[in-house]
Amino acid sequence: MADLKTRERIPAHVAFVMDGNGRWATQRGLPRTAGHREGIANVNPIANALRAHGSRYMTIYMFSTENWKRPTEEIDAIFELLVEWLRDTAPEMRSRGIAFRHLGVREPLPPALLAALDETCAEPVRADDLVLSLALNYGGRGEITDAIRKVIATSSDSSAIDEQAISAALYTAGMPDPDLLVRPGGETRLSNYLLWQAAYAELYFSQVLWPDFDERELDRALDEYAKRHRRFGGL
Ligand code: IPE
Ligand code: IPE
Ligand code: MG
Repeated sequence: MADLKTRERIPAHVAFVMDGNGRWATQRGLPRTAGHREGIANVNPIANALRAHGSRYMTIYMFSTENWKRPTEEIDAIFELLVEWLRDTAPEMRSRGIAFRHLGVREPLPPALLAALDETCAEPVRADDLVLSLALNYGGRGEITDAIRKVIATSSDSSAIDEQAISAALYTAGMPDPDLLVRPGGETRLSNYLLWQAAYAELYFSQVLWPDFDERELDRALDEYAKRHRRFGGL
């Protein structure tokens, strides 16, 4: 545990990659779906802990545009688990100061999932809320492409395409960039996550599989973040 002074450096926005669910289940002789259930259930305690630390934004990568390459049965199971979680757990999270937002493309997510997402994300963000963004059917390259299309649609002048205009046209419009990007599960890559926004994020990789990524692991990541010296290209 870092001392109090360094711990004051809390990241305003932490982005997580929810990875390792499948391996977590396989290691226990369980179907991969059991790992997805466990992984989704872990979002609530980590969001709570992060809010208690004073972060204002949490983003979690739950399904990428590349995850459609998986077997249909696994995809359907993930979506069913998400609907269940949005119905059973999200309302309680809302009442404890967590506001929801969806990052990604709606099509071709199933209508039941879109309805559950819409209901969960509809409520306004209150002053003390942690904004929890669910990156679902999300891909960073697609997001940037969509943003450029949006900017071009509003102006035919190429000088209108600047960094500010692109940032404002991303799914994350209005949100600060992530300060810390955490990837549990042992892989050390971005997998098309927040490619634009993570330009200066501190990267933290952990071998721990997401369903086992608990408050102690979160503390480790936050302690490590507090020790980093962010230069943004300066000295
Ligand atoms: C992350 O866990 C969840 C999704 C990508 C939907 P994985 O399913 O990728 O788990 P591993 O990496 O195979 O263990
Ligand atoms: C990244 O995990 C996507 C999500 C966690 C939603 P993957 O398991 O899909 O990433 P790769 O395939 O190992 O790069
Ligand atoms: Mg994976």
